[in-house]
Amino acid sequence: IGQLHPCIGEVLLTREVLQERVSEVGREIAADYADKQPLVIGTLKGAVVFMSDLVRAMEPTPAGLELDFVRASSYGAGTVSSGKVALTMVGGTDVKGRHVLLVEDIVDSGRTAAALLEHFSAEGAASVKLVSLLSKPSRRAVQCEPDYQCFEIEDKFVVGVGLDYREEYRSLPYIGVLKPECYES
Ligand code: PRP
Ligand code: MG
Ligand code: MN
Repeated sequence: IGQLHPCIGEVLLTREVLQERVSEVGREIAADYADKQPLVIGTLKGAVVFMSDLVRAMEPTPAGLELDFVRASSYGAGTVSSGKVALTMVGGTDVKGRHVLLVEDIVDSGRTAAALLEHFSAEGAASVKLVSLLSKPSRRAVQCEPDYQCFEIEDKFVVGVGLDYREEYRSLPYIGVLKPECYES
């Protein structure tokens, strides 16, 4: 693994394991979307790193594939999430009549992805599916299961490959568990 970040206690998924699985899922999606001109939408910021690997793993490249990004932020009073999600389509692509594939780095409570999927459906997308690098089913608060999922993980504090803790660690090429001393005050 080379040099491990000093705040990483354990590597959950190595770069090699990630690459292998992302290739597999990418090829599966490419086959499913070969004739659908997919509109691939990544959730900022976390999904960017995974999305970059995933779209290049979609072989053969589906004709007419387009990319856009959505910024989602949950808002609510205090520490308890209201479950409401505000969203902004970054590139302004119209999803009406499009086959939308939403890309997430992780589905945790499921609130973000569920809200986005519902929004794209309401906007008249021809189909809406979800692909996520990680899923923590034990944390689900709303019903939301990825149509494509690379890895199911336990409820551990993970960072890397887009996942942050206070905006740090997104660029790590592996999924690692953060050491408690790096987040306990
Ligand atoms: C994280 C993650 C997912 C979402 C998952 O994003 O990237 O988008 O939370 O959580 P949920 O299933 O409970 O909704 P975050 O809001 O931290 O923003 P970020 O992607 O910019 O880090
Ligand atoms: Mg995110
Ligand atoms: Mn985050």
